[in-house]
Amino acid sequence: MSVFVCGATGTQGGAIAKYLHEKGIKVHTITRTPLSTKSQHLRALGADVIAGDYDNEASLRSSLANCTGLFLNMVPDFQNPDIEVIRGRRLLTLAKEAGVKHVVYSSAFAVNEPHKIRTFTPTGFVGKLLLPKQALENEVRTMGFERWTIMRPGSFMTNFLAPMVYIYSGLVDKGCWVTAWTKETKIPLVDPMDIGRVGAVALTDKKFHGKEIEIAGELLTVEEMVKELVKATGRDLKAAYLTEEEIKAQAAVNPLVEAQLALRDMAQFADLEKTKEWGLDLGTFERFLKRENEKVMKTFSI
Ligand SMILES: NC(=O)c1ccc[n+]([C@@H]2O[C@H](COP(=O)([O-])OP(=O)(O)OC[C@H]3O[C@@H](n4cnc5c(N)ncnc54)[C@H](OP(=O)(O)O)[C@@H]3O)[C@@H](O)[C@H]2O)c1
Repeated sequence: MSVFVCGATGTQGGAIAKYLHEKGIKVHTITRTPLSTKSQHLRALGADVIAGDYDNEASLRSSLANCTGLFLNMVPDFQNPDIEVIRGRRLLTLAKEAGVKHVVYSSAFAVNEPHKIRTFTPTGFVGKLLLPKQALENEVRTMGFERWTIMRPGSFMTNFLAPMVYIYSGLVDKGCWVTAWTKETKIPLVDPMDIGRVGAVALTDKKFHGKEIEIAGELLTVEEMVKELVKATGRDLKAAYLTEEEIKAQAAVNPLVEAQLALRDMAQFADLEKTKEWGLDLGTFERFLKRENEKVMKTFSI
């Protein structure tokens, strides 16, 4: 078996590439930066890495040739949300033509039921994030691949590492994380290494065919996340909660606040017991922070 991996130089693709390699499965990928350290690291693992772009059909055809599996994972473009769907459809169509039989698509929490998010609007930031993924989920279900699986990961634990940590306002620079979440909000957190691990299993194990799986290792409140971060960094960190009035004023102009409001409603999609029934023992935030200690210390040193 050989698998075309989207974004193998990135977080999710890098994780699945590692687990596929451990299973002895050849990885094929394209990158816009073929000389980067990450590209070289992938080649050292035995991956076939060529220069390419999702908008360059020739590079996709060349990399997909002889692949029987596809890990699909697109990146959003908020200026042009349609492009995620155009690129995803292109990749699925070319994969089909190349003889790919198994597709694993990494989407996101709530993509299948965005109306359950109280603040959801199709034209808002969250709409632009979720609806292209919803269109691609439909393609994956209906394009007639022999086997397909949809994974819906929760909020990445890697968001607490540089450079993504900027989304948690004040956390690193001021030691006081100012958030639109409430004290009661529980956030479904996922270690992206688990997305790779589950994705690699889904590509190789028939029981995942036709399954749509929310992936979160833990549901944590802000205080619980701060407690783990204090333990891991030794810093005096705390959280402050925006008032509903402040949130109203900021949500209209700050997409991060709009996204946080949506995330208030994400816990309803998590089913940790069901995940366990699948035999998926997903990692905790504490374990993630220990494993990534070096990056955590670098991120939180001021
Ligand atoms: N962060 C979260 O909490 C979260 C939660 C759920 C879902 N998600 C979703 O996760 C996805 C992002 O995944 P990620 O974090 O693994 O991505 P990432 O680390 O940002 O990496 C992006 C990857 O995509 C590749 N790429 C981007 N544009 C490309 C193009 N035009 N042609 C070819 N390759 C291209 C990049 O390759 P090169 O740069 O090497 O070309 C890179 O490998 C998004 O759709 C996001 O909505 C994120």
